[in-house]
Amino acid sequence: MIPSLVYKNIHLIGVFMILMALGGLLLHSITGGTQEHSWRRPVAITHGVGLLLVLLGGFGMLARIGIYWPWPGWVTGKVIIWLLFGGLVGVIFRRPVLARSLWWVAIALAGLAAYLAGHKPF
Ligand code: HEM
Repeated sequence: MIPSLVYKNIHLIGVFMILMALGGLLLHSITGGTQEHSWRRPVAITHGVGLLLVLLGGFGMLARIGIYWPWPGWVTGKVIIWLLFGGLVGVIFRRPVLARSLWWVAIALAGLAAYLAGHKPF
């Protein structure tokens, strides 16, 4: 049986990978870069694997806590945030004018995800 702490580490490594990839892409976009760049594949892999690890670690922890369907509100909130993180990459280059705002939105979303996990307000 995989311990909860291992799932938590997997979860957090995934979070760091998502934020690294988004941060890099956002800076690239803000400073005038386009979708065609030499580090495109590694960034896409970092973002994609990060999303996968967050999902794996998140649901692994839920199983250890004993939370299944129907999810409490805080889990639904986190899944929505996860979906938003998945969709952000597409927005960065399609709407580069939003990149500066998305920098702060990404930080706020990650903070909200951490708050939901810690406080479980609903
Ligand atoms: C599918 C979506 C997600 C699920 C199911 C999920 C689930 C969980 C669970 C069960 C915990 C542990 C709660 C506890 O210890 O009682 C947790 C902790 C955490 N999650 Fe998520 N999460 C998801 C997405 C995210 C995202 C997108 C982020 C940030 C980008 C995030 C950041 C965190 C952080 C920072 C913690 C705190 C870790 C700690 O206690 O040390 N999660 N999550």
